[in-house]
Amino acid sequence: MTIGILKESATEKRVAMLPGEVAVLKKLGVDIVVEKGAGERAFVSDKEYVSAGASTAERKDLISLSSLLLSVNAIPDADLDSLNEGQITISVVNPAENSVWLEKARIRGITVLALDLVPRTTRAQSMDVLSSMATVAGYRAVLAAASILPKFFPMFMSAAGTIKPAKVLILGAGVAGLQAVATARKLGAVVEVFDVRSAVKEEVKSLGGKFIEVEGAKEDAAAGGYAVEQSDDFKRKQQELIQKKAEESDVIIATAQIPGRKAPLLVVRETVMKMKPGSVIVDIAASSGGNCELTVNGQTRIVNGVTIIGKSDFPSDMPFDSSKMFGSNIVNLLKVIIDKNGKPVLDMNDEIIAGTTAVHNKEYISLRAKQILGIN
Ligand code: NAI
Repeated sequence: MTIGILKESATEKRVAMLPGEVAVLKKLGVDIVVEKGAGERAFVSDKEYVSAGASTAERKDLISLSSLLLSVNAIPDADLDSLNEGQITISVVNPAENSVWLEKARIRGITVLALDLVPRTTRAQSMDVLSSMATVAGYRAVLAAASILPKFFPMFMSAAGTIKPAKVLILGAGVAGLQAVATARKLGAVVEVFDVRSAVKEEVKSLGGKFIEVEGAKEDAAAGGYAVEQSDDFKRKQQELIQKKAEESDVIIATAQIPGRKAPLLVVRETVMKMKPGSVIVDIAASSGGNCELTVNGQTRIVNGVTIIGKSDFPSDMPFDSSKMFGSNIVNLLKVIIDKNGKPVLDMNDEIIAGTTAVHNKEYISLRAKQILGIN
């Protein structure tokens, strides 16, 4: 079998796999072709891919000779039209926003594995690109805030006097939020954290953050560890407490999300107006609506002296290690898919394969994809 690694569109700096992971993949008995220039924005040359055992090709040739295509983002519509029935694509798909694309792939008999549908189970942890990319986002969000805050993060005792440590408020303690806690603590800030899931309390504490609780949070074991929508009374109480904490904070890192829904609104306009001028809000939930009422996705704006960064593509800004983690996650998934003869076998009795396969043989497979798309 031949596996093709595609070059991403101009706005994406990552590539689905780096040469180091290509060398590991080769050991599964497959041929690998990389589109010319695919790694250049992640600072990897064609020569390095060739040294790792791949060949390079123009996009059109690569698409026609690969049984399985790897990319970070779903392949563009124009390429989808040129695929043949039975060809497999593996990428992040975002079914909620790409339902028309997915339906087109289904009708054409393309098999689509969506990396954002990989089940969040212990066995699938090594294949979980959402966790990998959230790790990058949490880390970079803190660095972005630190680089524009007009203050130090750590406490300083110098001949010029004592400088107090920065206060960082982190909203949401999922993978990105916990990484943000760790990074802000390493830089010496005082960190407070909000989440609706009490399960993260101990993790926050062990990283050196202070967990702030609002009584009456709704939790649902059936949500598979994810957060659920909260009552209006809880939302009001939470917004009030966040406002109080925000007034004292120098930085807010907003990461709270609810899968398949708009991100919860936690920082209202009035809260921003009460924050200290020079404070920074980094909202990485921006692409799903943002946690701050004044966030604009893809923009940095200053309101009342508070800089609000709405950014959900931090992983693309750190393309080398993001691509390394992404490719490593894909190799781990392919180890489950590729048989000892180097051929792809999609065993729908395997919960990882069934959960990740959005469409196959002209049918929707993944239950989560069906749920998101409202298909019975
Ligand atoms: P996410 O990106 O969906 O959400 C981020 C955080 O926001 C979550 O911790 C959530 O509880 C919090 N949140 C939602 N609404 C909120 C509100 N109103 N106020 C404050 N916080 C709010 O989450 P992520 O990082 O993708 O994962 C969440 C959980 O999923 C993990 O902690 C874990 O339980 C599970 N998971 C399991 C994995 C595995 O076993 N393979 C891998 C990754 C995550």
